[in-house]
Amino acid sequence: MKPETLAIHASNLVKSTTGDVTPPINLSTTFFRDENGGYPGGHMYSRVSNPNRSALENTIAKLEFGEDAAALSSGNTCGLVLFQALKPGSHIIAPDDMYWGIKKQLLTIFNDTLEFDFVDQTDLELIKSSIKPNTKMIWIETPSNPLLKVTDIEEISKIAKPLNITLVCDSTFASPILQNPILLGADIVLHSSTKYLGGHSDVLGGILVTAKQDKLWEKIKNIQQTGGAVPSPFDCYLLCRSIKTLAYRMKGHCENAKKVAEYLVNHPRVEAVFFPGLEDHPQHKIAKKQMKDFGGMMSFLVKGDAEVTNKVVNKVKLFAQATSLGGVESLIEHRYSIEGPDSKTPKNLLRISVGLEHIDDIIADLEQALA
Ligand SMILES: Cc1ncc(COP(=O)(O)O)c(C=O)c1O
Repeated sequence: MKPETLAIHASNLVKSTTGDVTPPINLSTTFFRDENGGYPGGHMYSRVSNPNRSALENTIAKLEFGEDAAALSSGNTCGLVLFQALKPGSHIIAPDDMYWGIKKQLLTIFNDTLEFDFVDQTDLELIKSSIKPNTKMIWIETPSNPLLKVTDIEEISKIAKPLNITLVCDSTFASPILQNPILLGADIVLHSSTKYLGGHSDVLGGILVTAKQDKLWEKIKNIQQTGGAVPSPFDCYLLCRSIKTLAYRMKGHCENAKKVAEYLVNHPRVEAVFFPGLEDHPQHKIAKKQMKDFGGMMSFLVKGDAEVTNKVVNKVKLFAQATSLGGVESLIEHRYSIEGPDSKTPKNLLRISVGLEHIDDIIADLEQALA
């Protein structure tokens, strides 16, 4: 089935006794055993599995062409679980432009137990020369947050595979509709489901999808089920509900974002626009090769300093000045002040998550803010 169809039907796993077309929310934490000690409903205890989480995991695994998925309590939890699954002393090659919350985990939680280097992954030679005997994971994020760098998933998988290095791809900005890293050779795909999968800025979650159910995946599932950082049945229900419209929301985000990028690129107050859909984006060709469309995220530099940039961001009326992304409403944020003084993000950078409002209203708001 095509993604539009899968997104609607793959979560309808629960056979309701009352004939519901939409699966119910199963709040029970525990499930009946039969006389042989088995679990006839397929579930034992809801930290380990429950019908709503299984429905969500099944849906994302199918949309990402993986063998299995693990739903977790946030996108950041996905990072935590993956890093916990590595043997102490392992080396990770991570991107120089990486979602700061996961980068912070490496720098402040795993700094004593793991080794890592942050490298410009648009440079394949640099990746090759950064590999050490103890390199166990290459972590890519494409498109990246907040500079929208695009890394070539297929080419990096050609480097990782012969050396048995696990390739993890944070594909949050793309969603499973625009990019399927497993088909391009990634071993594990990560989504912050707080973003496009949830789509309405009202649910926090993360999900990992694996190409193969190997030893590493066994460890990951054990950390999920024994560690217990899992989303609630209600969160899983909300996600399954949102995913039904994901393909159509992504169409709207992509369509609006292209127009916003074209508008910003020609604006005299804008110094630069980072959007993979623009022909002069340095990795536009790679984005075209590995993505079905370019997504709804972009960043731009305001001509001027942090003060001028703050004036612009404080003038928006329709955009919400707030962090996060992927919701139906347009968001704008000054990344540097969110990331803090150690951030390398330019002080005149604004990141926008283009929503699903009418394009004329979105552009009119930017127009008055930049005026
Ligand atoms: C690319 C990317 N990955 C992961 C995360 C973390 O997700 P969460 O906020 O759900 O923990 C974010 C959050 O903004 C993100 O942008």
